[in-house]
Amino acid sequence: AVPVICIDGPTASGKGTLAAALAARLGWHYLDSGALYRATALAARQAGVALDDEAALARLAAALPLRFEAGRVWLDGRDVSEALRSEQTGMDASALAPLPAVRAALLNLQRGMARLPGLVADGRDMGTVVFADAPLKVFLTASAETRAERRYKQLAAKGISANIARLRDDLQARDARDASRAAAPLKAAQDALALDNSCLSIEQSVQQVLDWWQD
Ligand code: CDP
Repeated sequence: AVPVICIDGPTASGKGTLAAALAARLGWHYLDSGALYRATALAARQAGVALDDEAALARLAAALPLRFEAGRVWLDGRDVSEALRSEQTGMDASALAPLPAVRAALLNLQRGMARLPGLVADGRDMGTVVFADAPLKVFLTASAETRAERRYKQLAAKGISANIARLRDDLQARDARDASRAAAPLKAAQDALALDNSCLSIEQSVQQVLDWWQD
């Protein structure tokens, strides 16, 4: 079987940074599952599909013309790397993510990404649903303050000014929606190891997970 390390957790907890660094260190593949939900939201916007039209969204998700190449993401031949990361796209993704038919449509796509020598997968339900048999599952958290600050700095680096209190409210609202939905809610798998990285550097977080993996 292909080894899989799952990194699940709330928004802006640093899952993507940790998962990508781990994958690079191990020489494994990396799955950013949130990008699939975000791309479905972008595809819906392009096609004029409403965010509650479950059947139409599931059809879009099942046939996503998505390509990951040289650090860029292409949707139907268009470079959507920036649009994919916007706050609006994150909100839209979280609005369609509760729909069971959408989640089902993305399931095989995600499982198909598990290839040798291994996969690091980040998201909300990697350890609970998609790769429930994975040998190592990490549930990554950080305080709401820390996460709002990180998001603020990310936006500032792109020249976008934001209000920190507003960012914190937005990310808590998104967490609440992700955690309270019926389909694959955000929660730690029973066998997940908890990692709070509020006071850890990226390198320290990577090292902790590598230590767990080598155990
Ligand atoms: O980067 P950030 O954590 O803000 O977002 P993301 O990981 O790209 O995910 C965007 C949204 O997609 C989340 O708020 C979830 O509602 C949804 N999602 C999901 O339901 N399941 C996943 N495995 C990944 C993301």
